[in-house]
Amino acid sequence: MDEEKLGNFMNRALNEAAATYHAALVVVGDKLGLYKTLAKHPQGLTSTELARETDTAERNVREWLASQTVGEYVIHDPETDRYSMSDEAAFALADPNGPDLAGLFYVASSVHRSEEKVTEAFKTGKGVGWGEHDPMMFCGVERFFRPGYAANLVQAWIPALEGVEEKLLRGATVADVGCGHGITTIIMGQAFPKSSFIGFDFHAPSVDRANRLAAEAGLEGRVKFEVASAKDFPGSGYDLVACFDCLHDMGDPQGTSSHVLSTMDSDGSWLIVEPFANDTLEENLNTVGRLYYSASTMICTPASLSQEVGLALGAQAGEKRIREVVKGGGFSQFRRAAETPFNLIYEAKP
Ligand SMILES: C[S@@+](CC[C@H](N)C(=O)[O-])C[C@H]1O[C@@H](n2cnc3c(N)ncnc32)[C@H](O)[C@@H]1O
Repeated sequence: MDEEKLGNFMNRALNEAAATYHAALVVVGDKLGLYKTLAKHPQGLTSTELARETDTAERNVREWLASQTVGEYVIHDPETDRYSMSDEAAFALADPNGPDLAGLFYVASSVHRSEEKVTEAFKTGKGVGWGEHDPMMFCGVERFFRPGYAANLVQAWIPALEGVEEKLLRGATVADVGCGHGITTIIMGQAFPKSSFIGFDFHAPSVDRANRLAAEAGLEGRVKFEVASAKDFPGSGYDLVACFDCLHDMGDPQGTSSHVLSTMDSDGSWLIVEPFANDTLEENLNTVGRLYYSASTMICTPASLSQEVGLALGAQAGEKRIREVVKGGGFSQFRRAAETPFNLIYEAKP
């Protein structure tokens, strides 16, 4: 055994154990408004001031601040005993126009609540359904995904599709399948007032939330949500069908492909957004791959295995596998239309 390599491995594992605790503390800080309050005071706050302003107990807040300082989310000034956040940390964690990274930590914390179910599913092979996770996960997914959709969907992804933007501007019909909380459906609804949108998801609590969000956005009537599975959602002649970050979660994505094709206009487009992934494990040995393989093991793969067929593509399926599934369902054209560091954007046409 190489002592230096052992030391490096131990160091890495200790860091990760520390980060795992830290994940819970990010959620605590987010829920109690600790980051937002710190961000409002660039000159810094003492633990007593932060506790007073957030109506929390000083001793707990002081320990949280110490952990945040070691984790480099917060800066401590030993002269004044004040704590502050860098502009960058404040943007990432506390700015409504930032990436809202806390959402990612809600998802990360939620998988610990599902660990017993997932461990059991490894033995039975039966999977864990999407709806069996703690609701914290659905809220985390909504928050983590929203900034990426808000920044890219209307600005870059739709324009990358063949003639779709023009159709949406003129007035088109769109189905958003596996829509979750309907963030994408609502973003498109706001951008294209002459078009009508319907979101489908088989998880009823998500559909309820999506309908509430659409009502709050004043889109009721033109942006609707219904409970339906990807293989039997109703409607026909759709100009655009979209699947955001959900095809790999489905038990039978090829069956979904066939059904999507049967509901589309002959000149329609299927927009498929998937997590960024290369085709082989070795090509995915990076931070994004690490995040997504872990999420996939805890969430996506068990979700697919819990459904009929249980193809279990996994979140790191890669373009080659997605192409096979889409073409296997009967689509004749498939291409990568765009990409970001986190997503691959495909277009399929009949
Ligand atoms: C990671 S979430 C993505 C939600 C949403 N598209 C977004 O990007 O925010 C995956 C969604 O796929 C849905 N889903 C998985 N399998 C499905 C199926 N067979 N039919 C319909 N919805 C499904 C889940 O209920 C969940 O809402």
